[in-house]
Amino acid sequence: MIELTYYGHSSYLVKINQKTILFDPFISPNPKASNIDVDAIKTDYVLISHGHEDHVADAESITKSNNAMLVSNFEVAEWFAEKGVEKYHPMNHGGSKEFDFGTVKYVHAVHSSTLPDGSSGGVAGGFVIQHEQGCFYYAGDTALSYDMKLIGEEFKIDFAFLPIGDNFTMGIKDALKAADFVRTKKIIGIHYDTFPYIEIDTEAAKKATEEAGKDLILLNIGESIRL
Ligand code: NI
Ligand code: MN
Repeated sequence: MIELTYYGHSSYLVKINQKTILFDPFISPNPKASNIDVDAIKTDYVLISHGHEDHVADAESITKSNNAMLVSNFEVAEWFAEKGVEKYHPMNHGGSKEFDFGTVKYVHAVHSSTLPDGSSGGVAGGFVIQHEQGCFYYAGDTALSYDMKLIGEEFKIDFAFLPIGDNFTMGIKDALKAADFVRTKKIIGIHYDTFPYIEIDTEAAKKATEEAGKDLILLNIGESIRL
């Protein structure tokens, strides 16, 4: 059993057995997530897909207050190390690393990655997480890419966190194709409705997903589900 809790935008807390992994925390600057008490979030790991503010805003404080392990690409991980984050693990594209909750592979994304202070955040990525009970894909911010087929060939993906907000990333049409490429029917939508640029018609997105024979899971901020 794996439990997911949505903290808004692209941020999800994933609980696998007794370990928790927080993805891309952008909570305190997000007015839509004002119901979330950031200080109450408990996590063992913080995984950061790329350096943009809307993915890293609360990473430093949450990592430090939890003494959590921060995992990201080399440039982003080193940037946090310089800010005094003690437990961090740098990766780069194509590399896998085993942690106590499972194995993480840092995979391609087609996107930029500048950090909030203008430092280079390397090249944006996503994660494939293999754990005892299964495997999932967290795409981060990305365009649709043919490389996603490699993920479908290598892994048996149970569900995929895919951006659906369009404009800066894939929209629902490309996300449905991405789900085909990684060979999953279950999409957890991220990166939509936070800002005017990425507002979407969620009913239309759900309808398009249904017509494609897939599932689109869109949680309310603060809501949890078990998969
Ligand atoms: Ni971004
Ligand atoms: Mn973003």
